[in-house]
Amino acid sequence: MASPVCRLCVLLVLVVVVASSSLLNQTLRAAGAQAALVMGSQFKLTNIQNASEPKYKAMHAKQYALSTAGNACKWQSTHRVGPADYDLTPCLQSFSYATEAEQAFRAHNLCWGEGNPSWLLNGGYNASQLRAILRDHIRTVMMGLKQQTSRSPLAYDVVNEACESKRNSDGTFFKSAPPWYPAVPNYVDVAFQTAREADPDTLLFYNDYGSEEWGTPKAQNVYAMVKDLVDRGVPIDGVGLQMHLSLDPYPNATLIGENIWRLGQLGLQVHVTEMDVKCPEPCSSVQLAVQARLYGEVLQACLYHKKVCTSFETWGFTDVESWLNGDRCEPAGLCHPLPFDEQYLAKPAAEKLLRVLQANRDQKL
Ligand code: XIL
Repeated sequence: MASPVCRLCVLLVLVVVVASSSLLNQTLRAAGAQAALVMGSQFKLTNIQNASEPKYKAMHAKQYALSTAGNACKWQSTHRVGPADYDLTPCLQSFSYATEAEQAFRAHNLCWGEGNPSWLLNGGYNASQLRAILRDHIRTVMMGLKQQTSRSPLAYDVVNEACESKRNSDGTFFKSAPPWYPAVPNYVDVAFQTAREADPDTLLFYNDYGSEEWGTPKAQNVYAMVKDLVDRGVPIDGVGLQMHLSLDPYPNATLIGENIWRLGQLGLQVHVTEMDVKCPEPCSSVQLAVQARLYGEVLQACLYHKKVCTSFETWGFTDVESWLNGDRCEPAGLCHPLPFDEQYLAKPAAEKLLRVLQANRDQKL
């Protein structure tokens, strides 16, 4: 039988182990500020508004310095019913929450080939009507947000996912994006030009997935597209690398770093906008450690190019609420892709992010 002192020791060790696997010694938000990097996360408006689950909002506000509304600023929410029928309420509520939490806000997104309302898809509009509808939408959302909050979001994802994963046979890189492409061949130009006119006080981003590693066909397409925009003087400030990753194939962080650097050479900023790392059931502790390593490597690549890579955001923060849970995971089920687990406890990934931030404290601050 162990002595009382010894029993106390065992208890203490247990407490330390449990505490270190669930509590961070600093928030990601505070450590990000010390490393001069914005740490952000997407959130679901209904969860923020759900008074019976206050933990979600409290934790999101505490850990992050930037918010992205998951769906509240998309056409499906703001422009759902008809051409003249706008409802900015969900987007405004999301922005107000960010303001209340003293967070920056990423407005996602103004133009995409998904999540579009049926009136827009099935209205039989010709190219010039579509152009006018797109311009009106961008103006109404951006000017509406600015007028009603007296503040601009830090950034807008002006165009989302316009590029093909391979070059088209005619040399173009755009992919079909109903109703915009191919009906309006210059829709990307129209979107960015309108956005700059509507609100000159925000950063205008192009955002895409699968274009993280330099040298892949999709990364080349994104690079070629944004270089063309820059060369022709179309207003664009940055590229969002979504970073929806998995453990197999394991991404090459050196190539991610090279991509960030190349985009920076064009005079653009880079934001990691939607990072998550799939770890389907059964997600073992070894896989969680590899997941943590990947989070750390991507964050380190961003910090290494700090002048270019200015924000690091995940698509959600707790595994209980990820867009991947369900059919988007293979096998279908829980996907465990985020830094905090279903109980909101820090996973190895959160600890790794924190350690990397702490190791990159900005001495000048
Ligand atoms: C996802 C949302 O999280 C889901 O709720 C919705 O059903 C589909 O869209 N890339 C993007 C985001 O740019 O808009 C997507 O969000 C996730 C992938």
